Amino acid sequence: MEIRLLDRHDAAAYQALRLQALRDSPHVFSASHDDEAGRSIDEVATRIAPAADGSVCMFGLFEEDALAGFVALIHPQRKKLRHGAELAGMYVAPACRRRGLGAALLHAVIAHTRSIDGVRQLGLGVNATNAAAKALYRSAGFVSWGVQPRALQVDGAFFDEEHMLLPLDATS
Ligand SMILES: CC(C)(COP(=O)(O)OP(=O)(O)OC[C@H]1O[C@@H](n2cnc3c(N)ncnc32)[C@H](O)[C@@H]1OP(=O)(O)O)[C@@H](O)C(=O)NCCC(=O)NCCS
Repeated sequence: MEIRLLDRHDAAAYQALRLQALRDSPHVFSASHDDEAGRSIDEVATRIAPAADGSVCMFGLFEEDALAGFVALIHPQRKKLRHGAELAGMYVAPACRRRGLGAALLHAVIAHTRSIDGVRQLGLGVNATNAAAKALYRSAGFVSWGVQPRALQVDGAFFDEEHMLLPLDATS
């Protein structure tokens, strides 16, 4: 197993797995398969390559050299927001689940976030019905602080979004 930042060369593998994720798990992502399916590989490459200003990067999880999971880290660069970062779009391929890989990916991103100067907390939003993801985040120390009602609408059904936060102060 290897965890590393994705770059432009990973675009085709990322797009294939991302579209699989959006097909398999429509209720857990705010993007839809239709939103993403039309993107060219060049466009995907630009989106997954680490931003020059450090505002966004994408981590990939590889099993036997094949991409098996990913998660984005968003770090706002505006002065008043720079103390926070956000996780988004976490996914582990179904065949690789329940083997600790999601936890390894999450811990790698948390370690990376801790290494960014001045970042004090890491947040995320999760579909309130997503028990597996919430258990994973709780096991890493995230705590829930609020619920946005009807944040997502999928095929006519509404889903609440639970907001979670991991403090990254030196003592935590
Ligand atoms: C959520 C997800 C990333 C977990 O990945 P994973 O590799 O299976 O997770 P791990 O094997 O590392 O599990 C770590 C912990 O998460 C929790 N967990 C994971 N899957 C679970 C499940 N199906 N039911 C209950 N708890 C679960 C458990 O606490 C687990 O620890 P344990 O194995 O000691 O009980 C994966 O199920 C996934 O990609 N789901 C679809 C996409 C998704 O929901 N993304 C989150 C968007 S916010």
